[in-house]
Amino acid sequence: MDTCSRILLLLLLLHSAAVLSLSTHVALVYPQDPVLRVGSNLTASCWVPPDAGVHASSLYWTLNGQRLPASTYRTLSPSNLSVTLSGLNASRQTSGDNLVCHNHKGHILAGSCIYVGMPPEKPLNLTCWSRNTKDLTCSWAPGGKGETSISTQYLLKYKLRWYGKEKECEEYTHIQPYSCSITRDLHLFTPYEIWVEASNQLGRASSDVIMLDILDVVTTDPPSGVTVSRVGQLEDQLSVRWEAPPALKDFLFQAKYQIRYRLEDSQDWKVMDDVGNQTSCRLAGLRPGTVYFVQVRCNPVGIYGSRKAGIWSEWSHPTAASTPHSERAASGSCDPKSSGDSNSTLRRELKQFFGWARKHAYGCSSMSMKLYDQWRVLMQKSHKARNQVLQGDKS
Ligand SMILES: *[C@@H]1O[C@H](CO)[C@@H](O)[C@H](O)[C@H]1NC(C)=O
Ligand SMILES: *[C@@H]1O[C@H](CO)[C@@H](O)[C@H](O)[C@H]1NC(C)=O
Ligand SMILES: *[C@@H]1O[C@H](CO)[C@@H](O)[C@H](O)[C@H]1NC(C)=O
Ligand SMILES: *[C@@H]1O[C@H](CO)[C@@H](O)[C@H](O)[C@H]1NC(C)=O
Ligand SMILES: *[C@@H]1O[C@H](CO)[C@@H](O)[C@H](O)[C@H]1NC(C)=O
Ligand SMILES: *[C@@H]1O[C@H](CO)[C@@H](O)[C@H](O)[C@H]1NC(C)=O
Repeated sequence: MDTCSRILLLLLLLHSAAVLSLSTHVALVYPQDPVLRVGSNLTASCWVPPDAGVHASSLYWTLNGQRLPASTYRTLSPSNLSVTLSGLNASRQTSGDNLVCHNHKGHILAGSCIYVGMPPEKPLNLTCWSRNTKDLTCSWAPGGKGETSISTQYLLKYKLRWYGKEKECEEYTHIQPYSCSITRDLHLFTPYEIWVEASNQLGRASSDVIMLDILDVVTTDPPSGVTVSRVGQLEDQLSVRWEAPPALKDFLFQAKYQIRYRLEDSQDWKVMDDVGNQTSCRLAGLRPGTVYFVQVRCNPVGIYGSRKAGIWSEWSHPTAASTPHSERAASGSCDPKSSGDSNSTLRRELKQFFGWARKHAYGCSSMSMKLYDQWRVLMQKSHKARNQVLQGDKS
């Protein structure tokens, strides 16, 4: 029993004295619980037993507790009073509106729940993914303004292309509305045709049919065991390591990873999307003495030779680490002008180096990192040499 019917029953029970006084007969409202389109007209009637000693013209109507004007009534017979509602609005609540017939003392004689809404519109944005090839989950958006006040049922239907029988998805997830998971009899090497059918008491509508191979829509768990650590005393670098998602270890596939990182107090993530299939990477060009948050995600590419990229996993939980303080900040005893100059020179050179490395090496490969370390040692030596020369000049 829905809320509207329950309210009506409760009201009737509360007024049972009035009902009893109408002899053994009970008043009736017709029609009972109609379902109507927004904007339509409804004529309802309240019938009282002729032997109750109540004349229809002494009755009145309320809708959701609001008295309806007498101009909308018609006395059809001494025992039958009608009311006409025109241009109905959508029900205020999904449980329907209360249309109630009262006697002249205000006692409730009978009532009806009326449901006013719209037929469903074509469901939109149907998309599907498979977690580790173990299921096929699809979600969609209701069409139009969504569900009107009359409840709409959604069915996810599918069949295997070429020879399949039409089937219905049965596991509607409660975590996410408008989604359903197929978990049994999955076919990894046959395309599926999938669509959604929406229906309510006023009509039905189908989404577009989408076609897909499960292997092309695989997603996986975020990489586990993400650790971020310093690279010795290098103040502008952090090293990130992680493990491949274990659920996919038995599959023939190529994982692709992405890293993103941000400053502790910033919302702007910087994404490194050329990490490839390695399970470690070095972040460079960072600010010294600063806390960074790092996340990693995985895309299972080419499972069993699928041609398409998979779907990115969620990002791993953020892992935080800080870069070492720069020597300048720690000591603070140098001539600010000259050291600032040389550091900015270094920074410019670093920038140049990374520009060069990005062009010439694969983004996060250990090759370019080794190169960078060598280059850096070289730079430090040359600076030292220069400083010694300068000091030598002074003395
Ligand atoms: C509802 O009634 C009005 C007159 O009160 C009429 O003009 C209108 O066409 C009716 N609408 C429908 C959907 O029957
Ligand atoms: C009351 O009037 C309505 C409208 O004419 C009719 O449909 C209904 O059957 C009548 N009810 C009774 C109990 O006569
Ligand atoms: C529908 O809503 C409008 C504005 O909210 C109101 O003026 C009108 O009386 C309502 N119609 C009915 C049949 O309740
Ligand atoms: C459907 O997807 C499109 C594009 O992604 C988006 O703009 C639109 O808001 C979505 N519609 C619904 C009802 O979610
Ligand atoms: C990563 O990809 C390269 C080629 O792109 C391949 O040779 C290597 O085996 C892959 N490594 C792993 C762990 O899959
Ligand atoms: C950068 O500045 C710090 C502090 O002033 C100084 O110790 C360091 O040697 C500078 N680095 C280079 C490469 O010049």
